[in-house]
Amino acid sequence: MKDFGMLSRFKLPKIGLSDIEWPRFDFSKIQWARMPKLKIGDAVAKLPIVQGGMGVGISLSGLASAVANEGGIGVIAANSIGMLDPDYYATHKDANAIALRKEIRKAKEKSSGIIGVNIMVAVNDFSALLTVAIEEKVDIVFLGAGLPIKGIPVEALRSAGVKVVPIVSSARAAELIFRSWLKKYADVPDAVVVEGPKAGGHLGFKADQIEDPDFELERILPGVVDVVKDYADKLHRTIPVIAAGGVYTGTDIHNLFKLGASGVQMGTRFVATHECDADIRFKESYVACSEDDIEIIKSPVGMPGRAIKSKFLREISAGKKMKIKCAWKCLKSCNIKTARYCISLALDNARRGMLENGFVFAGSNAFRIDSIISVKELLHELQTQYLCAREKGAGTLRSEYERALEKLNSLKEEYLIALKNGVNSLREEYDIDIEKGANSFRLEYLAILDKINNLKSEYLKALDNANALKDELTTLFEQYALFNRYQSQKI
Ligand SMILES: Cc1cc2nc3c(=O)[nH]c(=O)nc-3n(C[C@H](O)[C@H](O)[C@H](O)COP(=O)(O)O)c2cc1C
Repeated sequence: MKDFGMLSRFKLPKIGLSDIEWPRFDFSKIQWARMPKLKIGDAVAKLPIVQGGMGVGISLSGLASAVANEGGIGVIAANSIGMLDPDYYATHKDANAIALRKEIRKAKEKSSGIIGVNIMVAVNDFSALLTVAIEEKVDIVFLGAGLPIKGIPVEALRSAGVKVVPIVSSARAAELIFRSWLKKYADVPDAVVVEGPKAGGHLGFKADQIEDPDFELERILPGVVDVVKDYADKLHRTIPVIAAGGVYTGTDIHNLFKLGASGVQMGTRFVATHECDADIRFKESYVACSEDDIEIIKSPVGMPGRAIKSKFLREISAGKKMKIKCAWKCLKSCNIKTARYCISLALDNARRGMLENGFVFAGSNAFRIDSIISVKELLHELQTQYLCAREKGAGTLRSEYERALEKLNSLKEEYLIALKNGVNSLREEYDIDIEKGANSFRLEYLAILDKINNLKSEYLKALDNANALKDELTTLFEQYALFNRYQSQKI
């Protein structure tokens, strides 16, 4: 028996491919996404699009039912809705409750989809209008222009199955509402609309915040999402956040979803539809206006508003006081003695196409409207744009993945070659040399040992090289797994 001393104790390290999982990934199995549904309590809308309530009389049963029929959420604006009745000045505020009930019933006759009612907290008949919405069992009430905290009949709302969605402009307002509700009612709202400063109508911002980038929708949305998520997690509920204000395309929707929104509320785009309940002259003023025609006004509601410039508004800001016939004090903040005009009447005149005696509320993007289309066409356009935006994002990842996969394959080949040529051929040489060493006598022993040591370090270098390649492969696998997880979460 020959004794090779340390030679026999030198073991060659082994390296195998068995610990590497080669990717199995088939793009044909991916189902490219549709717009996700919007779930508010037990109401599930096929499309995550809420048509914003628009007063006075801009969104009634016609528009709301058309949107609901296409899978969105249609909303009737309740404020001063009684002005639809020619006897409004005789019937006063009861006219609002009567007209609201009528419009809800009409909308429900025309659609079995989801119908909501928008009620401004700032109106004096807020509770009466809310009662009608409860009695008529609308699906959802959207409560804006003030904080819906006091005097909310939560039990009655719950037993009628009416979901409640406040409209806020900050995370602070959302926190205040949720905290107060939990304390007062041991309950929280079912969703939240966060409306940024690009919206049409009254804005929940101070005049100097409207153009301030710190208050833009994309900045305030994540804060509201965080507040709502805290409550949703604590109460084990799903409470979606719906983004509003300046949403114009399906790409906008896609971008807001990436920031945590689960739905959007849109107003301006729905005005420019055949089904919108306003006079055609109201809608055409959107088509005709330019960016410079859209301005911020001070409203008797006590908030700034966004509207299309008009002779009426010019005269008001020049100090003219219009003749006011006040049916009743419909707005909590309105003072008939100091108000220069009646905003309900001005908005109702505009609704009826009498633009010279009123003005048109509009979002900052109204100038982009170039035609009046159907609700169906609008929703189709938004969905197509959304899907394109989704696929574009996925497409970039997909080509990145394909490039990574190509690199992975070439690395795999390199690795195998390194293993075969580098390691295995060295191993053969090493074995032969051991053989040689065995057949020679002690004289050759040291030389052989040297050579073997050289071979060993060469071998280890080759092994290092193979291991570095293996590390690179592992990183690629991790990227691949991340990508896979991204796909499964998003789809
Ligand atoms: C003509 C018009 C009237 C509106 N009236 C109301 C209203 O009565 N109550 C309310 O909460 N929001 C009202 N809004 C706001 C919308 O519901 C919606 O949130 C807003 O317009 C979204 O911004 P966008 O127009 O850029 O899509 C009105 C908006 C417009 C354009």
